[in-house]
Amino acid sequence: MENITLIIDGKNVSCQKGVTLLKAADDYGIEIPTLCYHPDLKPAGACRLCLVEDEKTKRLMASCVTPAAQNMVILTDSPRVIKHRRNIARLMMAEHPESCLVCNKGNRCKLRRIAARLGVGEIGLYPMPNYKRLEHVNPFIIRDLSKCILCGKCIRADHELVVVGAIDYNLRGFKSRPATVHDRALEQSSCTFCGTCVSMCPTGALAPKNTRYVGTPERESLSICGFCGVGCSLFLGVAKEQVVEVNPSHLHDTVNGATLCVRGYFAHDFLNAGERLTRPMVRNNGELVFTSWEEALERVAKRLLDIKRENGPQNVAFLGSSKCTNEENYIFQKMARSILKTNNVDNGGYIYGQSFWDRIDEKTGSRYGMQPLARLLEEEVIFVLGADPNQSVPVVGYYLKRAARQGIPLVIVDPRHTELVDFSSIWLRISPNSDLELINGLAALLFKGKGYDFDFIVRFTHGFDQYRAGLSCVDLDRSSRITGVDVSIMEVTAELLHGKKIAFVIGHGILKQRYGLQILDAIFNLSLMTGNLVSQGAGLYLIASENNQVGSRDMGAVPYALPCRKSLNDDEARRRFEDVWQTDISPDQGLNMVQMIEEAEKGSLKSIYIMGENPIRSLPQPDRVRKALDKLDFIVVQDIIRNETTEIADVVLPGAAFSEKGGSFTNLEGRIQSFELVVSPPGEAKPDWEIITLLTSKMGDGLSYRSLEEIRDEIIELVPMYAHRNGNRYAKWVDERGERKPLHVDGTQRGFSFCSLASTEEETFDDGYPFTAILGSCCYHLGSGTRTSYSKRIREMDSRGEVEISLEDGMNLGLNNGDTIRVISQFGSLKREIRLKRRIKAGLIFVPMAFHQNDARNLIRLSQLCTLDSSGWNTCKVKIEKI
Ligand code: FES
Repeated sequence: MENITLIIDGKNVSCQKGVTLLKAADDYGIEIPTLCYHPDLKPAGACRLCLVEDEKTKRLMASCVTPAAQNMVILTDSPRVIKHRRNIARLMMAEHPESCLVCNKGNRCKLRRIAARLGVGEIGLYPMPNYKRLEHVNPFIIRDLSKCILCGKCIRADHELVVVGAIDYNLRGFKSRPATVHDRALEQSSCTFCGTCVSMCPTGALAPKNTRYVGTPERESLSICGFCGVGCSLFLGVAKEQVVEVNPSHLHDTVNGATLCVRGYFAHDFLNAGERLTRPMVRNNGELVFTSWEEALERVAKRLLDIKRENGPQNVAFLGSSKCTNEENYIFQKMARSILKTNNVDNGGYIYGQSFWDRIDEKTGSRYGMQPLARLLEEEVIFVLGADPNQSVPVVGYYLKRAARQGIPLVIVDPRHTELVDFSSIWLRISPNSDLELINGLAALLFKGKGYDFDFIVRFTHGFDQYRAGLSCVDLDRSSRITGVDVSIMEVTAELLHGKKIAFVIGHGILKQRYGLQILDAIFNLSLMTGNLVSQGAGLYLIASENNQVGSRDMGAVPYALPCRKSLNDDEARRRFEDVWQTDISPDQGLNMVQMIEEAEKGSLKSIYIMGENPIRSLPQPDRVRKALDKLDFIVVQDIIRNETTEIADVVLPGAAFSEKGGSFTNLEGRIQSFELVVSPPGEAKPDWEIITLLTSKMGDGLSYRSLEEIRDEIIELVPMYAHRNGNRYAKWVDERGERKPLHVDGTQRGFSFCSLASTEEETFDDGYPFTAILGSCCYHLGSGTRTSYSKRIREMDSRGEVEISLEDGMNLGLNNGDTIRVISQFGSLKREIRLKRRIKAGLIFVPMAFHQNDARNLIRLSQLCTLDSSGWNTCKVKIEKI
């Protein structure tokens, strides 16, 4: 790119041709005031406050939209410029209402700040406040458009960043304002309440509800969102030692930039819920009663050691958390392995696709399922399977929609019409649980049409001949029959994929199917055959649903591996840990989360220590899980909030939420992000790592860490890929990959190995249960909804979680919108209201998860994921009764 030189305020400035004057000045530390400009949005030139003067031509120009040119001489604060800026500010102020004194924006109002800097005291114009109706029915956003200065940032953020299109300019002149289609209330529009527009608004025209008029937060601290696996960077606004406001950080190089989702922006009010645990409790005579830390920890230490001594270490289990920090999961599993001598360690990430990474590690020897999300914008085709990112991980959804708007074709595989389908080039509307047949069919067509990368296959893979032989036997008519997708549509899809750089975005929806791992293998094969696994940006993007799902596994909170994902069977690795930990470690694999429940049910497990998980709400068949846990002799629950599992605990230890402690999370890109304490934990609650340190000292064999840094140093020693953590709030990538090479060594052959081709059995139709229920997420809740259901705003917005049924089925069953039905499966039932939908296929129903204590879990059988005897976790056969 050509470089040019010019003079700004007497400084010689050099910049690339095409760069705006605003950017050129900013790069040299010359500040120009702006209102409608944001670095993540296309410049609009709407407010004109960024005026500068061209000294040669005497022209005044908006610097945010004017490209710098060779030899320009620019003045950013000449008397003419200042005079015009003042006049613009005065005109805006004249139109502004006089509610500044009570406006929540307070001193953060950009208009007020700019006016003050320009010395606009007396406006000197006839005030013409542009009063508009206050809109505040929804529980999230208050719109006071009297304060709108028409900068258009909210509209551009909506269109360009979150790509929803809920609002646009309405009317002209003095009446002009941002509005929804037909000027409906926000709650009746397509607005997803992600809050991005609120955080962009320079005045108080948009404000988060419930914090309005509580005053400006006393301080704002940087942190990382504690909900989903995206790991958004945010500012927590604090007043009176409580988090009262959240905003995206808007910082460069963060995964989310200026965006958040409804949970990240609005659901953090759960942190202040009255149900937070604030004091330790022990069960005495059947009742949970408050006690001191001393007594609670002594009871836990004694009972766990007694059970280990009397019944053996296999009778104790530890369920860590995909929500707790890396440091906490590290010492949690170390306590289990080095003091209680058991590998019965798992974490809640089991439910959300932990096996993804295991399988990909096994096949590649490295983290080929993680990449920066920004690379999605460099792909040639994006293939989305087993995921509805707009609901489960909305920021991933924004990337996909932006990619589609940029012209990158999306192929969406989903039995349901999701929001992403409207952005897709091809929607493969498959029958539930038929993904494997679809991928096999596409692979066979690609192979037939020579859509493979022969050079890559020869250089980097083995086993292709066998795979090819399998592909030549794929019966496309059978695939079409099972998937419900016409062969002609599969052919068009194969054509689209042919020779392209493909990103495979995969959600845990595939692992919740009976053939989950086989589907992942089939995608892996497809990415190998098309040469996409190692090319920059292309390949696999695995979606982690929970904030530290990746890190808890890296830290060894799993029954089959030590930290750094070292297999327990790896003698050399085990010895290294034994040396550092000064203990013996059993090579025997422990129990996973479901096996813990199964063993408790059989009476062959006596005790469980649960940190930051709520298995009674998150696992299938909650009544069965509760009964199994009730059989245990001793249950410890360490958590931040009252929930179904704390209610049956023998000891409850109050932990600190992410905002109340330091630590680090690893996001779905593999980005390790550390954060610090923002507010103190409530009451006597403590960070989980401190609780474990205190507890182990009571066991006489203490993990004697005096600070988080000491734990981090040990992690860095044993998990070298975490050495990149730079101790600051922003961490570097775990793995700065340039060109990636296959690392896997299999016998004597180097390279990636094709998996053998699997196939599904054709499902038999069950007369007694004529509908297929699809269980899926909804953007208002995360996972089982334990935390989000304590958000007052989320509860107010959508507490019903209606079951969606096709119009056709509704008519046949005599159902109307709002009717209550009972959905019954072989394993349980639930009662919900219904919503009739045009866009759902007859025979299917959709049940949103996390509502009503996550009763959707009643419908499915508790079984281990990804085993062939599992009937799957996200679909089941049901019947419907009108109540
Ligand atoms: Fe340039 Fe508004 S910032 S016109």
